[in-house]
Amino acid sequence: TYVVTDNCIKCKYTDCVEVCPVDCFYEGENMLVIHPDECIDCGVCVPECPAEAIFPDTDPSATPAWLALNHEFASAWPNITRKKAPPDDADNWNGVPGKFDAHFS
Ligand code: SF4
Ligand code: F3S
Repeated sequence: TYVVTDNCIKCKYTDCVEVCPVDCFYEGENMLVIHPDECIDCGVCVPECPAEAIFPDTDPSATPAWLALNHEFASAWPNITRKKAPPDDADNWNGVPGKFDAHFS
């Protein structure tokens, strides 16, 4: 599976959802997640993300904690298939480290 990680938080550009062939992105207040049981490992979402927040689960950036978070919240949050406007301050958060600890709710 592919995994959405820290740099999506507060950026949430949503370009990723437009290209996913199986519509497996789910939307929270501050970030999106991928449902690991639905993702078909095509990888087309990776280059679409301006925040470079999506990694295959074989990448060290896709930690077990991030995989677990994607799995947990994909079952709780609504599906999203259409791009929407990012937060007004999204660009200010792109690349800021440690967003999960500071801002995830
Ligand atoms: Fe969707 Fe493919 Fe990205 Fe998985 S890797 S979330 S199937 S676009
Ligand atoms: Fe997040 Fe990147 Fe998609 S910032 S919403 S994973 S395009």
